[in-house]
Amino acid sequence: MENNRPFWTSKYSFIITTIGSAVGLGNIWRFPYIMGQYGGAIFLAVYILIISTICFIPLMNELYIGKTTKKECVGAYESINKNFKYLDALNPITGVLIASFYFIVGGWIINYIFKSLVNSNINDWGQYFSAFIQAPVYPCILTLLFISICIFFTAKGLKNGIERANKLFMPLLAVILIFLVIVSLNLPNAQKGLEYMFKPDFSKLNFHMVLAALGQAFFTLSIGMGALLTYGSYIKEDKSLVKSVYTIILSDTAFALLAGIMIFPAVFSFNMEPNSGAGLVFVTLPKIFSNIPYGNLIAFSFFILLFSAALTSGISIIEGPCATLIERFKITRIRASIILFFIISFIAIPTTLSFSVLGDLKIFGKTLFDFLDFTTSNIMLPVNTLFLCLISGWYLKIKGGDIIRNKIGVFLFNVGLKFIVPIALVCLIYMGLK
Ligand code: PFF
Repeated sequence: MENNRPFWTSKYSFIITTIGSAVGLGNIWRFPYIMGQYGGAIFLAVYILIISTICFIPLMNELYIGKTTKKECVGAYESINKNFKYLDALNPITGVLIASFYFIVGGWIINYIFKSLVNSNINDWGQYFSAFIQAPVYPCILTLLFISICIFFTAKGLKNGIERANKLFMPLLAVILIFLVIVSLNLPNAQKGLEYMFKPDFSKLNFHMVLAALGQAFFTLSIGMGALLTYGSYIKEDKSLVKSVYTIILSDTAFALLAGIMIFPAVFSFNMEPNSGAGLVFVTLPKIFSNIPYGNLIAFSFFILLFSAALTSGISIIEGPCATLIERFKITRIRASIILFFIISFIAIPTTLSFSVLGDLKIFGKTLFDFLDFTTSNIMLPVNTLFLCLISGWYLKIKGGDIIRNKIGVFLFNVGLKFIVPIALVCLIYMGLK
């Protein structure tokens, strides 16, 4: 089977696709609203510190394990030690569960793209958004549409589907983002938004915020569900990954920063609240778009941007479980994709309905959507990463030259794998459960 594995057609394909996985709703939707909730600039400072240091270790680790074992996630763990394969079954399961709520937001984005194409004259976007997600059938259809689009690219394979989608949508995303940043910076009082982003208020610094920054950094880098491990397993050449890992981290951070620079000046220019939470993108921004010249064009560009980001990440979320099905059960990619379409839809449909007819169905006091979001982001992603770091640190015993060519680097990397990242992750899981 190993010989039938696909490989990236070039290093550029690997980098752009991995950046495509990292840059998603986490950057353009989640990052600005979490930054808004935790006080702006000070959160940004902590976030940059964490993403450029601690996150390097698990990100490198996942890619490295994939690259050296050349296996999908379950097989990769198994090749380290037979008993670990059950631990790693958690990775594709996490992928399917993340897909089941992430793709619902993808459906919402499609609706907003359609909406921006017609002159809708909506006065109360808050009410519009609640009514839209509470209508049972339409959001389900859009969720299925978004799942189908992601599955389409997955089914077409690494070169013709996944690479192609990323090579098309990532440059589009960058161009639209820069265009929208320019528009936003030219709004009146834009500098207030920049001050909010870049002038730290140290009184807002607290442990909870540090953990929120850590959780956000893991989520945005796609660490913890085998997506990167699978992407790493498609690397053919034996080159050091250090430069690639820093390119991924830098690009992901640049996209998140630009998303902030696009959103906050606009929010402050219209005297809106920067801490309106998840509704920032679906309620606050549409209100702003309705009030600026060429608002429809700008809204359309923004939601295409969001769609591109969600799509390239969505494809990576599916690839882990897809590769596992292909290699474990020796089935074709098309068949694996169809099976995944049904499994994800089977969970995503009731989850979409948790905003309407299934609103009363509660698991540990949470609706299905909130439960999936909470369990995957706060528990499963950190737990999976914890296992992988401990396994690499204590069993694999990575030696100099394998990853990092200098001795101090290898020493620090191993200390990080064995102690620093696991301690940070245990705190994250503990805080998540509190
Ligand atoms: N990194 C993606 C984002 O920022 O939206 C989300 C994600 C993709 C998480 C793939 C996990 C994953 F494996």
